[in-house]
Amino acid sequence: ASMQALLNLRELERAAAASLAPEVWAYLQGGSDDMVTLGENVAAFGRRFLRPRRLVDVSAPDTSLELFGERLASPILLAPVGFQGIFHPEGELASARAAAARGQRMIVSTVSTYSVAEVVAASGQVPWFQLYTTPVRATTQALIGRAEDAGCQVLCLTVDAPVFGNRESHGTTLLELNASSRKGNLEGLDGASAVVDASLTWEFVDWLRERTRMRIVLKGIVTAEDATLARERGVDGLIVSNHGGRQLDRGRASIDCLAEVVSAVEGHMPVLLDGGIRRGTDAIMALALGAAAVCVGRPFVWGLAAGGQAGVERALEVLQAELVRGLQLVGAPTLDRLDASFVGPR
Ligand code: FNR
Repeated sequence: ASMQALLNLRELERAAAASLAPEVWAYLQGGSDDMVTLGENVAAFGRRFLRPRRLVDVSAPDTSLELFGERLASPILLAPVGFQGIFHPEGELASARAAAARGQRMIVSTVSTYSVAEVVAASGQVPWFQLYTTPVRATTQALIGRAEDAGCQVLCLTVDAPVFGNRESHGTTLLELNASSRKGNLEGLDGASAVVDASLTWEFVDWLRERTRMRIVLKGIVTAEDATLARERGVDGLIVSNHGGRQLDRGRASIDCLAEVVSAVEGHMPVLLDGGIRRGTDAIMALALGAAAVCVGRPFVWGLAAGGQAGVERALEVLQAELVRGLQLVGAPTLDRLDASFVGPR
């Protein structure tokens, strides 16, 4: 099917559902336990409403921003999603080429099907790297080295996965499947089968800081308390995230956690958000409530499953067009014009 005929992310989602095997679809869409948080991520955007301003010159909208010393064309990034080879044979390579074609930034997962070096070679774009640790520190160190050698400037440490969430809809079958085929970033590394470390504490952030000059971003912070600790540790950025509702269930929606995290960091570092963004107006709400940028997970994978690189490009194009139009309709031609006054309750 022509990707251009798919008008929005929901249509891409339907196309993806039709093109994936049921167990792969379950892995992509699923969350933990009763999937309450998964549903809330989307529902909580629906409980908020925009307060547009009128008679503002929006003839030249500009969605660019500066983040970690880089100029980005869009505040919408591709969240780290593991094992993209199960959604399309080109996996991360297709996603990375699409991101590069659109000038958008991708975050490559530790458990990617293709290594970060292969992603750079295929796309000509240097992504951010998402780190899962293993109990074997030498392996963690090697992963960091591989990301640095590929040129990565930003390291996102995922902090919401000391153990895997209870995902009854798909279990860990796919993890095991992947372990038997390509190993991506983990190729040849000791302890690569265990990508979680339940003993991790804040000291690990210091350990990381001593070993890399990459910016360190913590992915999965959802409270003011932890935002304050991150600030005290000299972390460079945060991603407010509950892992797309795949880890702890019955936690709050991402967008409901944003305000307290933003207020705790007091402007000292950028705060990003992911979870539940399905329209440009969702991104606008997050940006207005203090997010410097947002990431999408499932939405670009729907594109990947439906049409490889062209599908990911379509997903990004649709969301970006919605963002631009939304900014014009709320009367905020640039991102720095947005603030909390643009969002209200009913
Ligand atoms: C993820 N996510 C994730 N996060 C991470 O830090 N490392 C990873 O390898 C993965 N893998 C992964 C696989 C799949 C199939 C999904 C759906 C998600 C979480 C991801 O980065 C992000 O937090 C959520 O996907 C954001 O929510 P939405 O946009 O999917 O609603």
